[in-house]
Amino acid sequence: MLNSSIITIRKPDDWHLHLRDGEILKAVLPHTTRQFARAIIMPNLKPPIRSVADAAAYRKRILAAIPQGHQFEPLMTLYLTDNTSPQEIRAAKSAQFIKGIKYYPSGATTNSDLGVTDMGKCNGVFEVMEAVGLPLLLHGEVTDHRVDVFDREKVFIEKYLIPLQSRFPNLPIVFEHITTKDAVQYVLAASNLAATITPQHLLFNRNSLFQGGIRPHFYCLPILKREEHRLALLQAATSGSPRFFLGTDSAPHTKQNKENSCGCAGCYSAFHAMELYAEAFDSVDALDRLEGFASFYGPDFYQLPRNTTSLTLTKTTWRVPDELGLMGSGLIPLRAGEDISWKMMESG
Ligand code: DOR
Ligand code: ZN
Repeated sequence: MLNSSIITIRKPDDWHLHLRDGEILKAVLPHTTRQFARAIIMPNLKPPIRSVADAAAYRKRILAAIPQGHQFEPLMTLYLTDNTSPQEIRAAKSAQFIKGIKYYPSGATTNSDLGVTDMGKCNGVFEVMEAVGLPLLLHGEVTDHRVDVFDREKVFIEKYLIPLQSRFPNLPIVFEHITTKDAVQYVLAASNLAATITPQHLLFNRNSLFQGGIRPHFYCLPILKREEHRLALLQAATSGSPRFFLGTDSAPHTKQNKENSCGCAGCYSAFHAMELYAEAFDSVDALDRLEGFASFYGPDFYQLPRNTTSLTLTKTTWRVPDELGLMGSGLIPLRAGEDISWKMMESG
């Protein structure tokens, strides 16, 4: 249902989420379960989730942290390393709760040290994933320090993604958190591939990192890009193409670890994700396309049923808190202290 100030959509899912573990997990999970029925859970813990047994144990900890009265299904992933065996992939496929295998180029981002050092080492694993239809979730950036940080996604497409798709044409791939018009164009032209898009890449360009000083809470990886890229992403997300769907990449770090001489990468958006996406879609008068992006195309790609419950947003201005509590240090939400014009009302 849609009028200019209220929208009710099928309950959405988050196809890319960091929940961490322990105290952080308990603090952040209720924000996600308020809005989303399911989420793809990133495996970059310390140590990472590398086996079916690790994923089963982590899933139990997540289930135990769901607030009473909330319905939520964590969709687990495994962290690919140089040593992941094809047998582990077969076991992952048999374990119904694992929905994808995450590829971090070693050194690309937070807790990626044990990621893949050479894509060639994974051919045996990709063959099995292609045969059994288990999606590969790609952090698509090169790690070569000679490549400018703003070009690392574009170079990844040329150097790794195109060869990967020509070698494994039937391997389902999610190109995670795309940030460039080059990625949008690639996704539109490719097959067996879809992409997630974060709220920060729809709402901000790289100027936000330097607005009046250095702004660590806008620092995530892949890094925010130029305005032309933001506009291409917004166009893609609101186009109605089923190849683009919601993945917040909400990545909690304590305030102390963000506001630091070497601050961590990650924006925290789980608190108000649907409101942020509504604002982005509203900015181009495309709220009628929000439901497909948030609630339909993700489950369709992963071959899961669409949710049956609903979520309502109304056009009401409210202020994002300056800070949320997290382990005595605080957690700064995206757009902290600023007004936002959509508010989630109910979820049933
Ligand atoms: O900004 C990011 N934060 N990008 C990632 O790829 C990882 C994430 C995290 O885990 O903090
Ligand atoms: Zn992520």
